[in-house]
Amino acid sequence: MTAVLDSVAPQKGRRLAQETGAVFCSTVDELLETSPEYVIEAASGTALRQIAIPCLRAGANLVVLSSGAFADERFLNEVIETARECSKKIYIASGAIGGFDVAQAAQIAGDLQVTMTTEKPPRALQGAPGLKGAILSEDPKSEVQEVFRGTARQAISCFPKNVNVVASLSLATLGLDQVSMTVNSNPSLTSNRHIVVLEGIFGMARIEIQAKPSPNNPQSSLLAAYSVLSLLKKIQSPIQI
Ligand SMILES: NC(=O)c1ccc[n+]([C@@H]2O[C@H](COP(=O)([O-])OP(=O)(O)OC[C@H]3O[C@@H](n4cnc5c(N)ncnc54)[C@H](O)[C@@H]3O)[C@@H](O)[C@H]2O)c1
Repeated sequence: MTAVLDSVAPQKGRRLAQETGAVFCSTVDELLETSPEYVIEAASGTALRQIAIPCLRAGANLVVLSSGAFADERFLNEVIETARECSKKIYIASGAIGGFDVAQAAQIAGDLQVTMTTEKPPRALQGAPGLKGAILSEDPKSEVQEVFRGTARQAISCFPKNVNVVASLSLATLGLDQVSMTVNSNPSLTSNRHIVVLEGIFGMARIEIQAKPSPNNPQSSLLAAYSVLSLLKKIQSPIQI
């Protein structure tokens, strides 16, 4: 059985449930009454905070897209502890980027440095708290503008809806205070561009992804939904690559 929970836009959730033959739920309790084996969070950091502990306690494994919520170490530790107690897992989907396998092997090799640059069209960044009310130029002839440079943790508080990718990369490697991030606004872009650079004892890797925005939400990536499907497929497979 599949179920959809959307307590913020129930009409949207109902439509999605209808289109996919899923059961619609308007509360977390209703969702948990369906005894899910996996709960996939594709909503927001706030939603993740609401559902993570109850889902794990009810016996569900958790698949997460809004990984930026784990920048709150207290919440992260509570979720990890609950998963341990309940013998359940938390899976962070690769979302809009990739290369976590290389990054994790490179970290074990040692002396790793991780930097990430995310470049997005201005409309994907407008309204972020890190812009402090500034409006980014959307004129395609205007220059690329650096709007943030700092640690992954700072990036998440400045661009909470845009940079879950760097939270996932940091959790996979050095942690949120050791991964560096730059965010650029590029009016000539139609896709989001993410560049991850890894340097260490293993050598050097540069991973570049041009991820098309989701047709329904320019702040999000089309690839993110497919990363969840690929993760679920991998979990079920007897061979793990
Ligand atoms: N890790 C990544 O690479 C990555 C990539 C893309 C999106 N994301 C994150 O995934 C999340 C979903 O992205 P999206 O593009 O699908 O967003 P979206 O806004 O298109 O859809 C989110 C849906 O969740 C619902 N929702 C919001 N809060 C809820 C709550 N508390 N309980 C139940 N439902 C709730 C909304 O009504 C909406 O229908 C966002 O937090 C986004 O930042 C992460």
